[in-house]
Formats: sequence, C-alpha cells, structure tokens
Amino acid sequence: MDAIPLSKIAEPIRSIRDHFERRQRIDDATGRELRHVLRELDLATPGGATVQGSGHSVIRHLEPALARRPGQLTDVIDAFRPFFAGLPWRYSYASRADAPGLELNMGWAELVGPVAPFRSDTVCLGFTLIGPRINYPLHWHPAVEVYLVINGTAIWTAGQQSARRAPGEYILHPSKVLHAMRTEEEPLLAVYTWSGDVNTLSAYGD
Ligand SMILES: [Fe+2]
Repeated sequence: MDAIPLSKIAEPIRSIRDHFERRQRIDDATGRELRHVLRELDLATPGGATVQGSGHSVIRHLEPALARRPGQLTDVIDAFRPFFAGLPWRYSYASRADAPGLELNMGWAELVGPVAPFRSDTVCLGFTLIGPRINYPLHWHPAVEVYLVINGTAIWTAGQQSARRAPGEYILHPSKVLHAMRTEEEPLLAVYTWSGDVNTLSAYGD
C-alpha cells in the first residue's frame, strides 16, 4: 500500500474543521468542547512526511460506508474518498468471547493524536468505522469525546439513554461516561475527537 504524503491529508481535514467551526458557535457543552478542540488542533505538528495505511480488515466496510445515504456529510466523504483506504486503521482492544469478530469489523483511523500522522498530546481526531450488525459494547475513557456522524444511522447509548443517531448529529461523551454503539443494516462512519487525557485508552465497562 502506497504511503500518502502528509500534505494531502491536511487539506481534507479542513472539511471536518468547517463543520466544527459552525457547530462551536452554539454555546452549549458540545460547542464549548469543539472550541477547545479547534484551538488544540491548531497546535498539532507533523509527525512525519507520509501516512502509512495498515490494510486492516475493517476497510472492506468502506465502500458501503461511503454509499449515498440521506443526510450524509458529502463534503467530508468526498474530501477523504481517495485516502480512506490508505489511512492507519487499527483496533486495539483484546478480542471478546461475547463479541466475536468485533476486532475485524470495527476500527479507527487517527489523524491527530499522540501517535497519529499529526502529533498532539492534548487532542485526538480521527474516523471510526463499524460494519453492519455490530455491537461495540459499553466502554469508557477519561478523555472527553465528541462524535460527528458522517454516514450511517446507528443506535448510540450513553449513560442510561439510547437513541438512533443520523448523519450530521453530534454526540458528546463526558469524561468516564459509559457509552456504546450498535449498528443495524448500515455501517457507521463517524469522526471522533478526544481531549484531556488522550493517552489513557478506552476500557470496557462490563
Ligand atoms: Fe468513546
């Protein structure tokens, strides 16, 4: 798999920032978090000259995840379309007996973070991709997390609340709040951010 010059990834990241810049004008918890994230993203530095893809199994879900669906964030999809398959997709939990195949059907591609193509110790930015009919069980982390759904409608749970979330919706997970996602017939593609303690990984909550 050919490496992607880092400069080619910088441009499409602007399509995500455009969404965040609009949303941060709303003065609620999500808006304030995105304002903080945008400031920290400005301080990220290149970690190398290129991005190296991983070829992780989850990329077989990319084509259906990029298919035209109501409300999809076409600008982000189009900006990253040439690069999605070459991103460093990974999955870093141990496999679970009660969720067989999870490690082959979900993954994330970090663009900004402690070990990502653009380096930051205060913020992460990346994509999460989950294949259809997959339950990503309850988990938590100290970092504050914001998701922006790019394509695919899925069931999102945080604390005691579950809801079907559509493309264009933002989901805020405060520090240490248990949350989960479950896909139905559509794969899910979302952008995530972390801020705060970005070095402590997620842990399962059950
Ligand atoms: Fe999370």
